[in-house]
Amino acid sequence: MCGIVAYIGSRPAFPVILKGLKRLEYRGYDSSGIALFGEEVACFKRKGRVAELEAWTESVTATAHVGIGHTRWATHGEPSDANAHPHTSNSGRLTLVHNGIIENYASLKQELIAKGYTFKSETDTEVLVNFIEEIQQKNESTLEEAMRIALKRVVGAYVIIVMEEGFPERLIAARKGSPLVIGVGEGEHFLASDASPIIEYTKRVIYVNDYELAIISKDEIILKNLGNEPITPYIQQLDMELAQIEKGGYDHFMLKEIFDQPASLTDCLRGRLDMENLSLTLKGVEDHLSVFTQAKRIVIVACGTSWHAGLVAEYMIETLCRIPVEVEYASEFRYRNPVIGPGDVIIAISQSGETADTLVAIERAKEQGAFIFGVVNAVGSSIARLSHSGAYTHAGPEIGVASTKAFTAQLTVLAMMAMKIGKEKGTLSSDEYNRYLAELAQIPAKVEKTLATHEQVKAVAAYYAEARDFLFLGRGYNFPVALEGALKLKEISYIHAEGYPAAEMKHGPIALVDENLPVLFIATQDAYYEKIVSNIQEIKARKGKVIAVVTEGDTLISSMADHVLEVPAVDELLAPLLSVLPTQLLSYYIGVLRGLDVDKPRNLAKSVTVE
Ligand code: G6P
Repeated sequence: MCGIVAYIGSRPAFPVILKGLKRLEYRGYDSSGIALFGEEVACFKRKGRVAELEAWTESVTATAHVGIGHTRWATHGEPSDANAHPHTSNSGRLTLVHNGIIENYASLKQELIAKGYTFKSETDTEVLVNFIEEIQQKNESTLEEAMRIALKRVVGAYVIIVMEEGFPERLIAARKGSPLVIGVGEGEHFLASDASPIIEYTKRVIYVNDYELAIISKDEIILKNLGNEPITPYIQQLDMELAQIEKGGYDHFMLKEIFDQPASLTDCLRGRLDMENLSLTLKGVEDHLSVFTQAKRIVIVACGTSWHAGLVAEYMIETLCRIPVEVEYASEFRYRNPVIGPGDVIIAISQSGETADTLVAIERAKEQGAFIFGVVNAVGSSIARLSHSGAYTHAGPEIGVASTKAFTAQLTVLAMMAMKIGKEKGTLSSDEYNRYLAELAQIPAKVEKTLATHEQVKAVAAYYAEARDFLFLGRGYNFPVALEGALKLKEISYIHAEGYPAAEMKHGPIALVDENLPVLFIATQDAYYEKIVSNIQEIKARKGKVIAVVTEGDTLISSMADHVLEVPAVDELLAPLLSVLPTQLLSYYIGVLRGLDVDKPRNLAKSVTVE
């Protein structure tokens, strides 16, 4: 987490960096700061959102053409002015911003304290800037050399950008484990955690790799590895428009992104689903078909909402491909010495492509000989680059911290994978395959139809906005949707919510049921319909309030539930693509009714680049 931005060129750096920080706030928003290199280095930093930094610096007329900025998600030390970045070394010569965690900071700090260094903050970053300074002074070396030496001793993840007094014409950046993009302009360069602060100025970008150092002046970019060998920069053209990262008339990014879904799913299917020829093209799968058809098992690793998409994929792949699937929290998988080897396929699912746990999980699996397939939204991200193959979800930039359109795009890619592999493997008949393709083709229109019911969802939200707890229940393909619905509600509204398989309710959660507990059933018509009807009865018998997401025209559940939210009929394999939508809207409206910042919920960040 944390977002970093830097600028070097001929424009005033301050507004460029400030605007960039606002675009990166989804990565962390508990404090922010900017250091500018004019006559000398001036640093402005403050606890709170970037808007507070902006208000506080309103009277600052900064003409400097070089600067670095940071928006923080606290790891070491609470959010405070002192812990905000940038951090400056004891001599004042070096100023640095950092995204990541220096794991051995405590021992490095002891070393530095023994040498007389003092610290104003509790951060690992202030240790790092002083550690670099100490090496530079001791060896009488250049900053670049000192960084190379220092970074070889540092354990952890980082992107850093450093300014050095006396050298206003250049910035030095380095990366390991956290993302860094360089925007290549005419006589100016931009650095940022992702392309969103850059897109307005240039579409030419370089993605910096791990263990690389970038020495940036306004006219030149030099890339080197930590062994001081030059690397030829690879400039790519960004396929992203500014409008995609703006709110476009909606009150919040989250709402915009919910309503983006008919378009984002159309984009996801574009060039892949061909209804004229009844075919699916998924190059990343086709290029390695035998890997999938002969896979002994598939292990899905992911975090958060992406993990929920993985749970749905487990049902899809086991049903259509008859390959055993395990779904793992990346954070658990990476630490428990899993039994992995050749013949195993790992599918890593990630919106950002930067989640630290997922990234390390696939590194470990790759070392053990597994084949890695990335289902990633952010093009060019670390997970995409580390994978042997993959399929982008093409949902477009997702800015709201709570994931919505990325989830449905993940489900769509995973469904296409299951169909493609099942067909090739022979576990899915041609007739069934064609039927699924036809169902898939109708999804964007059905999503649009579902979203058109938003006023009904809003009315239900008004009814339950003050609830203290919420239970989400589903079975089969809709069980992961229950988990996702509960996650969304708790992140956006801070209402305690739990998701459960509907049948498991009897083994504990039913004890919570009374006339105050809203229970949301995902109860679309599928193989488990009658079972879930019984579960609804069980809740009603205990006076619980029932909200049910049902298939259009369902009269039976409508007669039992307190509120129903309808979705169009669809095959159960694709049901989560529709049934999740009312839960996204419900969380959004409840969050708004409770007066909360739904785009930036407390304590969260969108891109979790720390363990
Ligand atoms: C954070 C975000 C979630 C996301 C999760 C995994 O917790 O707030 O929305 O699902 O990280 O992120 P990824 O980018 O790997 O999908």
